[in-house]
Amino acid sequence: MENVPLLEKIGVVTVCGALSYIIVRHIWSFLKMGKEPIRVLVTGAAGQIGYALVPMIARGVMLGPDQPIILHLLDIEPAAEALEGVKMELIDSAFPLLEGVVATTDVIKACEGVDIAIMVGGFPRKEGMERKEVMSKNTSIYKAQASALEQHAAENCKILVVANPANTNALILKEFAPSIPEKNITCLTQLDHNRALGQISERLNVPVRDVKNVIIWGNHSSTQYPDVNHATVITSNGKKPVRELIADDYWLNSQFIATVQQRGAAIIKARKLSSALSAAGAACDHIRNWVFGTPKGTWVSMGVCSDGSYGIQPGLIYSFPVTCQNGEWSIVQGLKINEFSREKMDETAKELAEEKELAYSCLKDQANG
Ligand SMILES: NC(=O)c1ccc[n+]([C@@H]2O[C@H](COP(=O)([O-])OP(=O)(O)OC[C@H]3O[C@@H](n4cnc5c(N)ncnc54)[C@H](O)[C@@H]3O)[C@@H](O)[C@H]2O)c1
Repeated sequence: MENVPLLEKIGVVTVCGALSYIIVRHIWSFLKMGKEPIRVLVTGAAGQIGYALVPMIARGVMLGPDQPIILHLLDIEPAAEALEGVKMELIDSAFPLLEGVVATTDVIKACEGVDIAIMVGGFPRKEGMERKEVMSKNTSIYKAQASALEQHAAENCKILVVANPANTNALILKEFAPSIPEKNITCLTQLDHNRALGQISERLNVPVRDVKNVIIWGNHSSTQYPDVNHATVITSNGKKPVRELIADDYWLNSQFIATVQQRGAAIIKARKLSSALSAAGAACDHIRNWVFGTPKGTWVSMGVCSDGSYGIQPGLIYSFPVTCQNGEWSIVQGLKINEFSREKMDETAKELAEEKELAYSCLKDQANG
């Protein structure tokens, strides 16, 4: 450096100093603050699933114990006061991970910058209402929320539709948010998946964590097909097929399927309210699997856009077995489908195709005023 003029020496020293300062500041802010917060939207947040779900998210059940969260809560005007109450309780819970709560009835404000959107809000079927009337209310909700998400959510926002009819609401969201990749739009069938795991675990008296690879095919409705043909249980003698351990095809092909299909109705009968705790838990499982991946050799069930796998009409949102890796799901390929399963898989696909037709006829009616 002896021959370098003084001014240049000063310049080099200044640049090095500035760079060191920037690096030290970055390390310091990383150590001090850890991860950047993730913005999670919950629609219908003043409802019963919302009330069970938001504390789970704020406690790290969905995204892990070291992930700061900013919750965006959306509901409609008549529920605004209740929504404010939920926000107050979140503040009063002093969740260490919770860095902010946006509680609003403005869909645009709710969607701004969100990384994950859990769509729980919707119009429920009330006594005496026609199916078409309920579908019509929900298609208009999901059409409007699709464009709000498309324009205001963060790039690569992951969307999970919970509100019923979940598959068709997700389909409408997909059709009216064409710039959101299809891969980012899913619907919840993890609750049905968990119900199927629970039934097998109860029947065999084994911990539910040892039951793997049940499948929910199709619609989140009573036509869904809970399939145990590929399911296994981890035993002290290694992995065994569920069919072999239960050894009762009659129970598996009739009662088990009906129990899982009708579980929602059984809970309403018992609680006089629909399932909320288990639905919220399943929504957390769904997102956690999607973001962090499924363990090697296991799959989960998700309502995703069909690519024609297993002969299911492309474009329908249909529940398939999926594995997740690096934040992306893929449909498990190559499973053997017997005649019994084929029939049940087609039956639920047929219902979804009919729902799609009904949703489009509602949209047409709305367009014609
Ligand atoms: N996919 C599944 O596995 C599954 C399981 C259980 C329930 N569900 C469905 O989840 C939905 C919510 O269930 P819940 O028990 O919480 O119902 P809920 O009636 O208690 O709550 C629904 C909330 O959505 C709000 N809402 C209505 N329209 C809205 C809109 N346009 N934008 C934002 N919010 C809106 C309501 O004001 C209400 O607070 C229902 O459609 C239910 O059928 C799905």
